[in-house]
Amino acid sequence: MFDTTNFPNAKKVWFMGEFQDWSDSKVHSMSHALHYGTSVFEGIRAYATPKGPAVFRLEEHIDRLLHSAAVVQMKVPFSKEEIIQACLSTVRKNGLDSAYIRPLMYYGYGNLGLVPKASPVELLIGAWEWGAYLGEKAKYGVRVYILPWRRVHHSQYDMAAKLGGIYVQSMFCGVIAREKGFDEAVFLNFEGNIAEGPGENILIVKDGVLTTNDMSESVLEGITRTTVLEIAQDLGIPTVIEPISMEDLCHSDEIMFSGTAVEIVPIIQVTDGSNPNVGERACTIGKGEAGPITKRLRKIYMEIVAGNRPEYEGWLSYVNR
Ligand SMILES: Cc1ncc(COP(=O)(O)O)c(C=O)c1O
Repeated sequence: MFDTTNFPNAKKVWFMGEFQDWSDSKVHSMSHALHYGTSVFEGIRAYATPKGPAVFRLEEHIDRLLHSAAVVQMKVPFSKEEIIQACLSTVRKNGLDSAYIRPLMYYGYGNLGLVPKASPVELLIGAWEWGAYLGEKAKYGVRVYILPWRRVHHSQYDMAAKLGGIYVQSMFCGVIAREKGFDEAVFLNFEGNIAEGPGENILIVKDGVLTTNDMSESVLEGITRTTVLEIAQDLGIPTVIEPISMEDLCHSDEIMFSGTAVEIVPIIQVTDGSNPNVGERACTIGKGEAGPITKRLRKIYMEIVAGNRPEYEGWLSYVNR
């Protein structure tokens, strides 16, 4: 039996149209994706609502999955609607009230030349209960570390795609930041501006204006980022899309991460370790605690995903319908 300590309540994996027991899920050791990172994936959340579990912005996530697949020339073996239904049925089959849902599409076993000419495209979907990605302090604020490694650049690949291999950079930078005692990493881009976290976008608040960057600054324009901008606009909070410099970051009143896994998390301290020759510089953001706009946006976001904001119900796909 596989240990499911880090996959609470996972019971079944959807694999190419069939459910497998969690412990029976297998891919061959010579699968193309294992060697070259030739996979695309999504991170999606479902939340408990008064009408049973509901998946947040499922259609947008599957659109992005299909876009990612197109970027790496995958011939997708299922339609968009079939993948949507498969995600819903995976939550149902696992009996989950809330879930993190992970569709993964990859080049499987067939050949190991870089061109996967005999490697079939396979799709699997896992779902389990995944709590706060950055732990309980997510509510109060996290401390981040800016590494010397610059974010992969938007001129190197289509940053609207979530490609498995690209996440190697996110992985080791996240590990380094934690080993240094911080909660998460943040990347600068080649231009020296703030890019994003390893799996999160960054938004700042200064004098009541909410600012974030876009793909031209080498970020994935996340679905949560879009959601936060839409909520802010509905609340009448001015929003701006422009590059964010290190100075902007340190002089902002509030900073937040956004992302499906982290949801909305205040950042209360930034340590710049991007230039080892000059040493580290730490700045405290605002009063060193979650700011009012971050708290307001987070509260509304959590109400929306929990089905308690009828005006945003269109973003929810109910699992039991
Ligand atoms: C690199 C990166 N940036 C930003 C995000 C946030 O995107 P989303 O809000 O769509 O989860 C993610 C997560 O998917 C990510 O991996």
